[in-house]
Amino acid sequence: MNASISVIIFGATGDLYETRLSHALQALFAQGLLSQDVRIVGFGRRPLGDEGFRAFTAAALAKKGDASSDFLARCSYVQGDLGSQDDFIKLGRYLAEGDKKAGSCSNKIFYLAVPPPFYAGIFANIAAAGLTVPCAPGESHDDTSWTRVLVEKPFGKDGAEAERLDRMLGELFDESQIFRIDHYLAKETMQNILAFRFANPMFMPLWNKDHIERMKIIVHEEKTVGARGGFYDGVGALRDVGQNHMLQMLALVAMEQPLDMSASAVRSARAGILGGVRLDPGIAPFRAQYAGYRDEPGVAKDSATETFFRATVGVDDDRWRGVPFELESGKALGASRVAIEVHFKGGNMLAFAIQPREGIRLKFWFKRPGFDAALEERELSFGYADDAGGAISHDAYERVLYDCIRGDQALFISTEEIVEEWRITAAIIRGWQAVSLRLYPMGVAPESVQ
Ligand code: BG6
Repeated sequence: MNASISVIIFGATGDLYETRLSHALQALFAQGLLSQDVRIVGFGRRPLGDEGFRAFTAAALAKKGDASSDFLARCSYVQGDLGSQDDFIKLGRYLAEGDKKAGSCSNKIFYLAVPPPFYAGIFANIAAAGLTVPCAPGESHDDTSWTRVLVEKPFGKDGAEAERLDRMLGELFDESQIFRIDHYLAKETMQNILAFRFANPMFMPLWNKDHIERMKIIVHEEKTVGARGGFYDGVGALRDVGQNHMLQMLALVAMEQPLDMSASAVRSARAGILGGVRLDPGIAPFRAQYAGYRDEPGVAKDSATETFFRATVGVDDDRWRGVPFELESGKALGASRVAIEVHFKGGNMLAFAIQPREGIRLKFWFKRPGFDAALEERELSFGYADDAGGAISHDAYERVLYDCIRGDQALFISTEEIVEEWRITAAIIRGWQAVSLRLYPMGVAPESVQ
């Protein structure tokens, strides 16, 4: 990776940078996948200065391993307010000075690691400060320099806002510069769903309503909202993981085989299946909140935000008509488990396990040893971690950043997908209006609480 890169992080003192981005950036740097003169520029309100930001980054990195001094030396900080045009102009000047010193115009990545209400203001300020192009007017550059924006999920708070944001982004950037993140798509185990489905012909004839009874998509988390209450309370479980990660899990397990693995073919196959998703009219979705949630820092005392939801949808096409897809997610549950279970008619089950043990499990019937003909259920399983040499080596955020740098949009969400995701989300929200929010004790999934 030769051309130099500047990665500008909005929300640099937040949870995402601390727990994921700093680690992913350091790992890419160590592997030589970022230019050695890369600049990581934190932008935030706190008066940290370069040294303060390096100390913050070092402390974050130390939680999982060693912080490299070479990497820390590439980090710097611009203090500013996300809503202030002047502060963005200051940021622009800072970047231009850096480029001048380096003698070339660096490629720019703007990473929006902030809650959705800040997006529109940031886009407007990026434009006002002239940052939609990589180099300041009059500065020397070659035509291959680029500027890209990485936007975290959820993209907006509903369909109308997502469309507004998209229109705004569309006026400032070309679609090829916009990377809407769903880090689940960048997980190795998620990518393996397509590889497994389409490289193993034995399952293909079975992948339909004649052989599959139901699908279950599970994102159970043991952790509570912790320090993220301020973000989470404005979002809730459905918009935090349902609208995006879980619908993408559904898309990958149910979509038709794309014409090829190009970004446009894969994105349009995902959008195609999402377009057919309908709320099951016979099963009302519901939402619940864990006891004690309202006492979490940053959460409103009378919050009605859900920390758990369950919804059943179907796909209105010839392959899937009549097969229920049950989506279930919550925080503060007894155990963490992220998986897609494919339940076949007759009891066989294939699970794509995304957490905690990443791999694949296949349940089927064996004859129990002995003189009778009794059957028992057994499992064949494959775990990436047990596979010497084949363990998962890249975190999803490394993939997100790396694919953005190389300009590959296959694992990023298109406008069409966003529109469908919000349409489905709105139907679920309408569906649960009739039932009141339930409470569940920490550690107990609400189905056992009436
Ligand atoms: C994030 C959500 O997108 O995904 C979090 O905001 C959730 O609330 C997280 O905990 C789960 O991701 P992972 O990679 O830990 O499974």
